[in-house]
Amino acid sequence: METIEQNILHVKDLHVQVRTSEGFSTLVQDITFGLKKGKVLGLVGESGSGKTVTSMSILQLHDRKTMNISGSITLQGRELNGLENKEIRKIRGKDIAFIMQNPMNAFTPVFTIGHQFIETIQSHTAFNKKQARELAISVMQSVDLPDPIKLLKNYPFELSGGMLQRVMIAMAACLQPSVIIADEPTTALDLHSQLLVLRLLDQVRSEYGTSILLISHDLGVISEMADDVIVMQHGRIVEEANVIELFDHPQHEYTKKLLQTRPTLFSKR
Ligand SMILES: Nc1ncnc2c1ncn2[C@@H]1O[C@H](COP(=O)(O)OP(=O)(O)O)[C@@H](O)[C@H]1O
Ligand SMILES: [Mg+2]
Repeated sequence: METIEQNILHVKDLHVQVRTSEGFSTLVQDITFGLKKGKVLGLVGESGSGKTVTSMSILQLHDRKTMNISGSITLQGRELNGLENKEIRKIRGKDIAFIMQNPMNAFTPVFTIGHQFIETIQSHTAFNKKQARELAISVMQSVDLPDPIKLLKNYPFELSGGMLQRVMIAMAACLQPSVIIADEPTTALDLHSQLLVLRLLDQVRSEYGTSILLISHDLGVISEMADDVIVMQHGRIVEEANVIELFDHPQHEYTKKLLQTRPTLFSKR
């Protein structure tokens, strides 16, 4: 029997509704899953199935004026659902890092990478500028980013999408979050960059013991990275299994269909 305590992050009976002119409309429902320490949980499902709504609920990024989030979301036993803005802001980035699809959106165009990197570290630690810079460089070195000192001097537009995404992940790793939520982190990237970004996420997981919720519509990415997989369709979880079990013995019709249409570029099975 697995207990909730083994899970770093635990989502229970999550139900998200949005207010419309005709009343409330449900976006996701009955979402229950756990993320174990140092493991990658893949969240897969076609576009519109509710993956991003789920991840934004965990981070409490929905607008509470229009969205109703019920259920429980606990991080190491602490309830996140309904937490005051001030409290959740401390957790975001520090305890739960968020890697989004388009890394360009995560950076401000007018400041150097170094400026933003150092500011992020300083906003969550008591480090001075010099210490923050040293930490940035050492983490970038530890995850094999080329020429960290030069990278810090670059502006976001001077880097490729793939490199920006890798910088983003290194920035997240600096604060040693217990959880990284990566929502379609490789979708906007070319194949070579996709592999580098996935390798980097895996490196962060093994080096820092970070748990990763990896969201993708791409089963190739999921099969490469995940230990366990949740399959979503129309706002619900339709199947949950160990990755090998899921690929060898899919139970749900939707999962079987997904597997038949999966891209083969990444797959090793
Ligand atoms: N703020 C919102 N207001 C209304 N509907 C939304 C909002 N955000 C998402 N949705 C709807 O919720 C469903 C799930 O969306 P999403 O979680 O973004 O899907 P996915 O990430 O799996 O592609 C979609 O039908 C989408 O249109
Ligand atoms: Mg999405």
